[in-house]
Amino acid sequence: MFRRSPFFYVGDKFKILDSVKKIFPLKINKFIEPFLGGGTVFLNVIANKYLLNDVNEYLIKLHKFLIENSKNETIFFNNISKLISRYKLSHSFLEDIVPIELKNKYIKTYYAQYNKEGYNMLKTDYNKNKNDMYKLYLLVIYGFNRMLRYNSSGEYNIPVGNVDFNKNVYCALIEYFRFVYNKNISLYNSSASTTARGGPTASRRRGASTPPRTTATTATASTGCSTTR
Ligand SMILES: C[S@@+](CC[C@H](N)C(=O)[O-])C[C@H]1O[C@@H](n2cnc3c(N)ncnc32)[C@H](O)[C@@H]1O
Repeated sequence: MFRRSPFFYVGDKFKILDSVKKIFPLKINKFIEPFLGGGTVFLNVIANKYLLNDVNEYLIKLHKFLIENSKNETIFFNNISKLISRYKLSHSFLEDIVPIELKNKYIKTYYAQYNKEGYNMLKTDYNKNKNDMYKLYLLVIYGFNRMLRYNSSGEYNIPVGNVDFNKNVYCALIEYFRFVYNKNISLYNSSASTTARGGPTASRRRGASTPPRTTATTATASTGCSTTR
């Protein structure tokens, strides 16, 4: 079983991970990912050191934010829950609050119908202060196709999606936090051609490297998620 990225990013390599991993060496010292995206590949590779790059600065900021929060899972989920409540968004990972009448009326689009107003308020507030990574992460999770896109004026402009903060999102976050915790990861934000020559804008984190671990699947009673170790 492979780890799922908590970005559910369009074009991720989750479905072909099996084939991708077959062509990797058994032991990897330095893993270089020039096109990080949601990070599906790196989340499923054990290495002593990870050099991760993407040309999308907001994606890199989100990874940095999640990596920093890997030490504070509880605080992270408390803050996310407060925002979800403030914007009155659905949150099926905790409880199903979408009224049955809405589900019957909009059989295939009820999440979009339910979340539209709160999502648009969240988007307006985020666009006033683009440093709030909690808000940006929620916009991705509740946004159409879970995309990360800005218009030419620099405004985040994805419409609401027919999606929700569900158990898959919650479990993918837990998996991400536990994987990146104490790993030796450097994030880069540049075009892949410059990264290959050394990368001008590295944001380094954590010096300690973690010994390679074997992979096995365990169910964790505390989270209700089936986690990959
Ligand atoms: C489909 S995603 C990669 C998926 C990922 N490797 C995985 O693990 O599933 C492609 C990513 O490449 C990035 N990208 C596109 N052109 C790039 C370039 N010239 N340099 C760096 N990143 C680039 C995009 O921003 C996008 O996030």
